[in-house]
Amino acid sequence: MKGWRITILVSLGLVALAAFQLGVWGTGEEGIRVLVRSTARCSVVLFALAFSASALRSFWRGPTTKWLLANRRYLGVSYAASHALHAAALVALFGASTEFAESLGAVTLVGGGIAYVFTFAMAATSSDAAVRALGTTNWRRLHLVGGWYIWIIFAQSYLPRAAMDPAYLPAGMIVLAVPALRTAAHLRQRARKPQAA
Ligand code: HEM
Repeated sequence: MKGWRITILVSLGLVALAAFQLGVWGTGEEGIRVLVRSTARCSVVLFALAFSASALRSFWRGPTTKWLLANRRYLGVSYAASHALHAAALVALFGASTEFAESLGAVTLVGGGIAYVFTFAMAATSSDAAVRALGTTNWRRLHLVGGWYIWIIFAQSYLPRAAMDPAYLPAGMIVLAVPALRTAAHLRQRARKPQAA
């Protein structure tokens, strides 16, 4: 499995999961909240795979990391699809829960909104044509800044939850592993450069 088939299959899987969850927990507030949480969990896994593919490849040069690196674009767009479902569930929650509607503050809306702007900008520029149109440097800047911003939003959502509830430890560990891997790969690359020169 490779290329856009991954994105199509993951998206269909996410829609099927959403339909199953709404079928089991209902289309009221409870079911919608289940959907908000499950889409966030699928998103963090897909995002972490795409955002750490290069670092993982630099440490482990097996067929799995080769596949991951070659398909990170399609995993990244799958993350965007998952997060589009998170947004759709939030709109539904807005209608189903006055408590949620009243709790929405400017910080959440602006902070989360910026993450969505990055998410869709990155998804929309996930093609060779977009890399050529933007230029490699600008394209890299967008994906680097956007990636770290999205990571910050995941970190501030999951780390406090993980500190309070052991059920959130896997998500907390994913969130911490991403910067650790990227930083270690970056330092290793820098340490190797003078030798290469
Ligand atoms: C304006 C935009 C957003 C709003 C209003 C919002 C709202 C919410 C709400 C209400 C929940 C808790 C649902 C519940 O426990 O019943 C939630 C969970 C979460 N959201 Fe969002 N969200 C937004 C954007 C984002 C973005 C951009 C990200 C990540 C990049 C994100 C990541 C998460 C995570 C990680 C959780 C925790 C899920 C869990 O408990 O397992 N959210 N969000």
